[in-house]
Amino acid sequence: MKKLLDLITEEMTSAFAEAGLDEKYARVTPSNRPDLCEYQCNGAMAAAKEYKKAPIELAEQVAGKLADNDMFELAEAVKPGFLNLKLSRKFVAAYVEEMMQDEERLGCEKEASPKTIMIDYGGPNVAKPLHVGHLRSAIIGESVKRIGRFMGHNMIGDVHLGDWGLQMGLIITELKERQPGIPYFDETYTGEYPTEPPFTISELEEIYPTASAKSKEDEAYKEAAMQATYELQQGRRGYQALLSHILNVSVTDLKKNYENLNVSFELWKGESDAQPDIPDMVEKMKADGYAHISEGALVVDVKEETDTKEIPPCMILKSDGASLYNTTDLATIVWRMRDYHPDEIIYVVDKRQELYFTQVFRCARKTHLVDENTRLTFLGFGTMNGKDGKPFKTREGGVMRLSTLIENINEEMYRKITDNRTVSEDEARETARVVALSAVKYGDLSNQASKDYMFDMERFTSFEGNTGPYILYTIVRMKSILNKYKEAGKSAEGAVIEPAHSDSEKALMLQIAGLSAAIQSAYEETAPHKVCAYIYELANALNHFYHETKIMAEERADVQASYIRLLKLTKRALELCIDMLGFSAPDRM
Ligand code: ARG
Repeated sequence: MKKLLDLITEEMTSAFAEAGLDEKYARVTPSNRPDLCEYQCNGAMAAAKEYKKAPIELAEQVAGKLADNDMFELAEAVKPGFLNLKLSRKFVAAYVEEMMQDEERLGCEKEASPKTIMIDYGGPNVAKPLHVGHLRSAIIGESVKRIGRFMGHNMIGDVHLGDWGLQMGLIITELKERQPGIPYFDETYTGEYPTEPPFTISELEEIYPTASAKSKEDEAYKEAAMQATYELQQGRRGYQALLSHILNVSVTDLKKNYENLNVSFELWKGESDAQPDIPDMVEKMKADGYAHISEGALVVDVKEETDTKEIPPCMILKSDGASLYNTTDLATIVWRMRDYHPDEIIYVVDKRQELYFTQVFRCARKTHLVDENTRLTFLGFGTMNGKDGKPFKTREGGVMRLSTLIENINEEMYRKITDNRTVSEDEARETARVVALSAVKYGDLSNQASKDYMFDMERFTSFEGNTGPYILYTIVRMKSILNKYKEAGKSAEGAVIEPAHSDSEKALMLQIAGLSAAIQSAYEETAPHKVCAYIYELANALNHFYHETKIMAEERADVQASYIRLLKLTKRALELCIDMLGFSAPDRM
């Protein structure tokens, strides 16, 4: 379906043409004076200069051409030269009825030429527990992916595990201290390694911090870890086998954690998967003359004349020949281009890595790792702070584990749900889980990604205000009315949405009609917060309509059926949107 604003603009364009004025002036925008009108066109003011006439005179000419147009209830010229528009109730009802005919997508069109877009998000580090910093990447990335997918694009999410580097050597070293006798450490061993890993996930999560702490105090221990890392990277058999155990145990646990967040990835690639592409990539950079030696290291210059601040060269290999985080990200681009030919790669990473990604992107472009028209996008997010305005911590001041945060919020939600209500324990737990997820995700996504925000348990879990639970509560309210209607033995089968019977009903319809424009701009600006802003307005419009309208007591059957159909449409629109945000609504709460 065409977007509402486009339909209005088309009419305005013809009116301008009929009035003998250039069509470029016919731009229509939502009104910034909703008390006066719904849409407006300010083109007569600009046109006045070209035609050397008073703006109001031109506006009146255009308004005259719209006088008999069925689309408008009001098309009037007001001083100094605005065109104020109100849509006719009949037109708006017909528009939303047409949306409802397509229950699946509510008339939102898919992109005519879909793109392949890879999205690098999550970024957990193997063997280290997920902490709140990883939460934002997962939540935002998942939503950006779902919005793109709804628009019809081929979206491929890659978790990009941090599974390379010193952390692996540290784990191996600590394991060797604890279990020196296992075959992985015996260099003469040629048999098969055990299929059972020599540790559990909780052991693994304890091994890493222990090893990391030791390495800071004990120089020899650190040396050993660096040596183990080196040998692993050189392909030492026993260490490779340990790496796959570490990966398996860790990935199984990560999958479970992400599943609880309603987050999933198409690809579970890691930094280690990029290693095979490094040698050829480096050779080519050298052969093409892009990489040169500077102070022993191999670097590619990436500064540009227009830079206002210093952009240091991108380091490809350290003086000892070791690769870096950079090198891995560049080689990752190599396999992504080779295997998927993406039109765009979006990185959802902490904004403190912005300079780093500027270097990587410039280097990839300069050395032609990407096609000229492949976009590389950095979607940097801000920090989630506690009430003290500092990065969110545990009460003891430690790094907050993601699982702890989720447990706390589930508990709070459970308490709220069981307050003065009686539901079975199981249902209350499950509902609490679903609603708590909406609280966390909406609390995060309703802010512009690049901004820091404050995690406020009290506010996020509230059923009132701009929160996830408020949106779910609104959906549940509609589900309950629809059920009551059905239980009364009635059916809205065959009903159509009638022209609004009240102002609040018309306002609701207008808000619904803006669905596809809202999703489109959220997609174009990679901005899930736009979906949040849209559904908050929509939920408000629905609740306003609900409070002013006696739906169940309505005696005219066709009017009541029309209300019911409008509720179904509203519910569907909200459900489509929350699915794009990555959460869902319970049946009751
Ligand atoms: N593992 C990294 C971290 O925890 C994030 C990875 C971001 N993605 C990337 N392609 N570098 O900081």
